[in-house]
Amino acid sequence: MKKFLKLLGSVVLILILALIIIVVYIKVALPNVGPAPQIKVERTATNTARGEYLAKSVMVCMDCHSLRNASEYAMPMDVTTLGEGGQEFGKSEGFPGTFFSANITPAGIGSWTDGEIYRAITTGVRKSGKAIFPVMPYHNYGKADPEDIKAVIAYLRSIPAIEHSVPESKSDFPMNIILNTIPEKAVPGKIPADKSDTVAQGKYLFTIASCHDCHTPLEKGKFVENLAMAGGREFIMAGAVVRSANITPDKQTGIGSWTREMFLQRFAEYRDSARAHRVLSPGEPQTIMPWSMYATMKDQDLSNIYSYIQTIQPISHAVVKFQTRN
Ligand code: HEC
Ligand code: HEC
Repeated sequence: MKKFLKLLGSVVLILILALIIIVVYIKVALPNVGPAPQIKVERTATNTARGEYLAKSVMVCMDCHSLRNASEYAMPMDVTTLGEGGQEFGKSEGFPGTFFSANITPAGIGSWTDGEIYRAITTGVRKSGKAIFPVMPYHNYGKADPEDIKAVIAYLRSIPAIEHSVPESKSDFPMNIILNTIPEKAVPGKIPADKSDTVAQGKYLFTIASCHDCHTPLEKGKFVENLAMAGGREFIMAGAVVRSANITPDKQTGIGSWTREMFLQRFAEYRDSARAHRVLSPGEPQTIMPWSMYATMKDQDLSNIYSYIQTIQPISHAVVKFQTRN
């Protein structure tokens, strides 16, 4: 019996030591996605314009990295705060800590090299080597064509510098340890060369626009892939729970009965600035979907996204999109 207890004691000790070693390893050696690439981004009118389009209409960087007006429907961004950061993703919205979007104007990341910005966007590792919380969808950006990421960098270099200091983000335990394991080396994609392959074009945009992430339920930090794009991911907002819609082509519960024109129109309505800045009435459903940003996508790109959506698995999954809560 004594021998057994001694053995048990050593086993427990070894387990505790192993755990300490693992935690120290994760804290010290991770994230490890390699050094920032040595790249120089050319700033031409063409790639700056492409970058602006991606940052505002497709990858919607500016939606998170500016302040959003919560009193208006779909919380459009306040253009005077373009890129200054400071938007809070906190515990009251269910996040495991308090995170603030960074200042990505030249006043915030002007001293970073192009490679350091490239690595941050595509892998989630900052100049300092610290991990970025994945509310920023860097796993999807890592799948973008490197030329598109460079275009975004060219654009970020061109926006006005705004001095705006942002509080430091803080993860709760155990996220402060887990966070370091999240950044991964990027596996870059390519803009499909064939313009007439509308499904492939749409899939590329759908991926870098992160439609999947909001439209797939998230449980304990993992996407429920057998309900991919079937909606129901919950967003806790002031006084309400908002759930994403089913955007699979299911006829009853998804958008399978929408024509291409209906789909385009659903976005296009927010191009009108009165619609894009409509003040909410009390108790009216709010949404987190950045309609006014995606609305500025070109019709051809939205149409390609529609073509891609037609090819995804229809899933029957009814969602209550808005519920008030106390
Ligand atoms: C859904 C919201 C969201 C989107 C979209 C988003 N970001 Fe972020 N980003 C954040 C948050 C929040 C942080 C800070 C997270 C933290 O502190 O852990 C961040 C951090 C960063 C950082 C690190 C800056 C620093 O000083 O540490 C850079 C650079 C960055 N984002 C650039 C971009 C670019 C470029 C895009 C578009 C391609 C983008 N982000 C899209 C939310 C977002
Ligand atoms: C930040 C989270 C978020 C992102 C990113 C997002 N959506 Fe949504 N989306 C929602 C929510 C929440 C709703 C339900 C409320 C509403 O209608 O606005 C919704 C609604 C929709 C609807 C309306 C469906 C209906 O039944 O009325 C469509 C279509 C849609 N999204 C398509 C997309 C596409 C395409 C993308 C990518 C380009 C995308 N969404 C990205 C959160 C998001």
